[in-house]
Amino acid sequence: MNRLLQECSVAETHANISSTVLRRVTRRLARSLFIAAGLVAIGVSLAYGWPWSTDMEIQPSIQPQEDPRLPPPDTIPRHGKEPRMDLLEAAENLHNPVQPNATSIESGKRLFEIYCLVCHGPAARGDGPIARKLEEPPDDLTEESAVELTDGYIYTVIREGGTIMPPQAEGLSSRERWDVVNYLRSLQRKAEAR
Ligand code: HEC
Repeated sequence: MNRLLQECSVAETHANISSTVLRRVTRRLARSLFIAAGLVAIGVSLAYGWPWSTDMEIQPSIQPQEDPRLPPPDTIPRHGKEPRMDLLEAAENLHNPVQPNATSIESGKRLFEIYCLVCHGPAARGDGPIARKLEEPPDDLTEESAVELTDGYIYTVIREGGTIMPPQAEGLSSRERWDVVNYLRSLQRKAEAR
């Protein structure tokens, strides 16, 4: 009887030991697999930028309603960006860099007819086809008071617009705005000669 008991407990101990070993091996295997999977995931993400973005909205471009990014530091804009100048400062300090030659006046005429004629009329007399529909009538730009405005002032009015007049900061480039100023001057000279 005693012997039988002894044999039983030895068998039990063997079973205990083998299940403990099995558990330990399984745990170690699981841990190694987990680490291996982690290393693979890190490797893939480094190599292919995973997780991949499926949303085109997330990108470093300028979104609608967002301010344009500032130019990189220590760079000088070659076209386009110009310093903001208020109307009175521009009237005094902003000088017309574009010669009023035939090319400039021709380009100004084409642009004036697209951007200004509807309100100011073909001869800039303030009698364009939609002039009467506006709350405030467009100025007659051949009047003495408009002739006396400086080129820098008119240029800035075109860029910034008025209460009713739409701004053309985006519609017309800097060069195009000066062309419109030159054409307007030619219209004023024509009106004066009459
Ligand atoms: C939608 C109509 C409209 C369009 C288009 C328009 N203007 Fe005007 N403009 C006006 C009105 C109205 C005024 C009177 C000021 C205001 O808008 O508050 C005016 C005023 C002006 C003045 C006088 C500003 C002052 O302070 O004395 C100038 C110069 C002028 N416009 C030039 C232009 C030129 C050049 C264009 C084309 C690039 C143009 N406008 C396009 C409606 C218009």
